[in-house]
Amino acid sequence: MLPLKEKDKPIVQKLLSAGCCARCVLRFCCVSVQAAYRQPQQETLKELKAFIADTENSKCQDSAGPDSRDENNKSHEAAVSDTPEDPPSKRAKLEPSVAAAQCEEEDAAAAVVRPKDDESPVCVVCLGILQELCGTIQAVKIAEAVKAESYEFDTLVLSVSLPAQLCVREHSCWLHVKKEVREKGLVFDKDDVIQVKEAFKWIMQGLVAKELGGVAVVTRSAFEVGVEFTHPQTDADCHFLATTCPDCFKPTKNKQSVFTRMAVVKALEKISDAKFLKHYPCPPTQPTSSCISQDIQCLHVSVFVAGRYNKFCRSLPQTPWVIDGERRMESSVEELIAAPILSAFRADGFNFSSSGREDVDVRTLGNGRPFAMELLNPHKARLNKVEMKKLQEIINKSSDKIRVRDLQIVTREAMSRMKEGEEEKTKTYTALVWTQKPIQREDIGFIDDIKDLTLDQKTPLRVLHRRALAVRQRVIHSMNARFLDPHHFYLGLKTQAGTYIKEFVHGDFGRTKPNLCQLLKTDTDILELDVESVDVDWPPAIPE
Ligand SMILES: *[C@@H]1O[C@H](CO)[C@@H](O)[C@H](O)[C@H]1NC(C)=O
Ligand SMILES: *[C@@H]1O[C@H](CO)[C@@H](O)[C@H](O)[C@H]1NC(C)=O
Ligand SMILES: *[C@@H]1O[C@H](CO)[C@@H](O)[C@H](O)[C@H]1NC(C)=O
Ligand SMILES: [Zn+2]
Repeated sequence: MLPLKEKDKPIVQKLLSAGCCARCVLRFCCVSVQAAYRQPQQETLKELKAFIADTENSKCQDSAGPDSRDENNKSHEAAVSDTPEDPPSKRAKLEPSVAAAQCEEEDAAAAVVRPKDDESPVCVVCLGILQELCGTIQAVKIAEAVKAESYEFDTLVLSVSLPAQLCVREHSCWLHVKKEVREKGLVFDKDDVIQVKEAFKWIMQGLVAKELGGVAVVTRSAFEVGVEFTHPQTDADCHFLATTCPDCFKPTKNKQSVFTRMAVVKALEKISDAKFLKHYPCPPTQPTSSCISQDIQCLHVSVFVAGRYNKFCRSLPQTPWVIDGERRMESSVEELIAAPILSAFRADGFNFSSSGREDVDVRTLGNGRPFAMELLNPHKARLNKVEMKKLQEIINKSSDKIRVRDLQIVTREAMSRMKEGEEEKTKTYTALVWTQKPIQREDIGFIDDIKDLTLDQKTPLRVLHRRALAVRQRVIHSMNARFLDPHHFYLGLKTQAGTYIKEFVHGDFGRTKPNLCQLLKTDTDILELDVESVDVDWPPAIPE
């Protein structure tokens, strides 16, 4: 039995005559008993008609009591089915207003959408969303879309996107009953009206859950299934608001239309009742067709994966190297790592970041360089230890150029640890250095004694095209030299992150001071560079 009170009667009467569907009537009566929405709408309609027809009936008077908001009172249900069908004369009275259908064409179109006598015309407020678009057929469609993409998930949240003009129609309908609400001393406000979205979810959540074999449909979940309705026929409903509140409708770059739901709500908050009624029919006009249900959109929140990588190749850029739209190197660290991870998580895309980066010709040895990846819309969000190890193995075996370790799922917040205090971290390097003048073992011995050497580095010439010109101070904490032959030695360096090593060795035309040429009093150049360690204690090591 519907939890309605005697006072609701004129509102029910008025809304039904205006062409509201049964569920929208419940919404405007602020019925918050979910079961009332879940019962078949035809049944609700029948009950509503009986309710307003039957003023004298004592059974109905009873139902106006406070207890009546109880959901499952079987004795009431029996009482309703006892109520005789409406006589034809009353039925006619309840037909929606045909004010909208002024021309014959529209009338004919309207007839098309009600092939059967007992099928309700399209609701003037919800445009069919709480009618045939809200039930098992729609639930099956949603479930099919989810299954087709074979996501792995524990729970899902249903999100609903409605055409913005629904707000305009809702407002019109509210104005239509507002007088009754006030006169009957019904203490409720427009905000108390149950939203279409809410009612839709109350009805659909259980149905979708059932179609998906009992998965929990909840209000917050990492997995979102989006249902979108449009109604092109009434899109123009919103347009008058652009003249009443031009400021509300500013073009934004990624929206197709300025008439977003937010903007429409804002404009409706500002407009006076009188002005609204001057521009828009009250109650709203009768649509001839229901909303169109768009393709179901499934989206899983990003998963973040971190690890450390080694790079063993001197001809591999970290990210795809494209110059003038043409690829310069066939692969990149990022792509080699990402491809197997993307396929393991069945993600749509990724976003790669790392703790610093090495040049294309620099190797990264030792424990490797920390990296993290955001995986967009992963269809699988979890990997157990064994699967993770397997994934690591696949990456390791995919190429000799790179290896990964400590691969793990991390949180978005943890990811920022990698970038935190990056400047303070240290890195160690080995450089193969060439000297113009021949050297002897003793000539480079002094290098081992240099501690905390501060450099002034002007932005290197080779990166000037992408970094601002500045002088940066960097510290070389310590160095060591290993003699190779009269023109070559290995230089080990432990430096502050962000030090340009190549420029320290060759001097960059004096742009880095002091530099190795000055220290050795001869021209020097760097032939090879390896990163030996990136001293960032994140991500945590995974024991083998
Ligand atoms: C059902 O409604 C009747 C009549 O209002 C009432 O007497 C009875 O207690 C209700 N039963 C339940 C289970 O609420
Ligand atoms: C990638 O990350 C950057 C920085 O965190 C962010 O601005 C960007 O939107 C991300 N890209 C995608 C496709 O998520
Ligand atoms: C992948 O290679 C790294 C670096 O050599 C190594 O530490 C790690 O154990 C390897 N992982 C697997 C599963 O092969
Ligand atoms: Zn409706």
